Formats: sequence, C-alpha cells, structure tokens
Amino acid sequence: MSRTNAFFNPAVFIFAILVTIFFCAIDGKAQDAASLYKAKCVMCHGADGKADTPAAKSTGARSFSSPEVQKESDAELTTITTKGKAKMPAYENKLTAPQITQLVSYVRELGKK
Ligand code: HEC
Repeated sequence: MSRTNAFFNPAVFIFAILVTIFFCAIDGKAQDAASLYKAKCVMCHGADGKADTPAAKSTGARSFSSPEVQKESDAELTTITTKGKAKMPAYENKLTAPQITQLVSYVRELGKK
C-alpha cells in the first residue's frame, strides 16, 4: 500500500504551509509600515501624508505628494528619516534600518495619491 493518499500528500501539505507563511509575511510587512506610520509619523505628516496637520504647519513638513518630495531619491528620504533634518526627528535609535526602508516605501505610496 502506498503511504500517500488523497487525504495526506506530504508534498501538497508542505506546499500549502509555505504558501501560507509567504502571504502572512507580505501582509505582516504592509501592516507594520502602516501601523508604524500611524504611531510615529501621522501627527506631523498626516494620515494621508499631505501634511495637513497643525504640527505640519508649525514644523514646516511638506506633503509627500509635493514635487519637492517627489524628486528626492529613496536614499535621500531614508537619510532624512534616519538622521533627521530641521524639525524632522532622527529615527536611527528608534527604528531598525528595515523598518525605515519599509516606511520610505510607504511614504512613496502615500505620495502617489
Ligand atoms: C515632529 C514632527 C515630525 C514627525 C513626528 C515626523 N516627521 Fe518627517 N518631517 C518633518 C519635517 C518638519 C520635515 C521636513 C524637514 C525639512 O526638510 O525641513 C520632515 C521630512 C520628512 C521626510 C523627507 C521629505 C521632505 O519633506 O523632504 C520624510 C521621508 C519623512 N519626514 C518621514 C517621516 C517618517 C517615516 C516619520 C515617522 C517615523 C516622520 N517623518 C515623523 C516632521 C516630522
């Protein structure tokens, strides 16, 4: 008698687990960036990144959709988030480099809207 049958095929089982892990990882990352942004950045940059908040007006934060921010490279945005600039706080001791990378791509997404 064969050990594999329609109810338990090890290859299909392992494949299903890998697919599940893969999609959880993608989902988890997107959620991380959104919840980090909400926790740490919204008060100055606004939920939609348009800098439409009283804090943005008093600190001079620009909309992520503005041409000035659009023309900055990912590397520049990463440096500003890491090291800070003017009233923008430095996050090098508060976030990990991968978290900053995720936030920069999140900021890019917001800037497209
Ligand atoms: C205390 C208010 C404040 C908070 C909190 C804040 N920012 Fe900023 N941010 C600013 C200001 C002000 C600037 C503009 C700095 C300048 O060029 O003078 C800025 C600039 C930036 C820029 C560069 C875009 C540009 O305007 O040139 C990025 C990217 C950015 N912030 C991301 C973030 C992220 C990500 C977070 C959360 C982890 C965050 N900021 C939290 C105030 C803030």
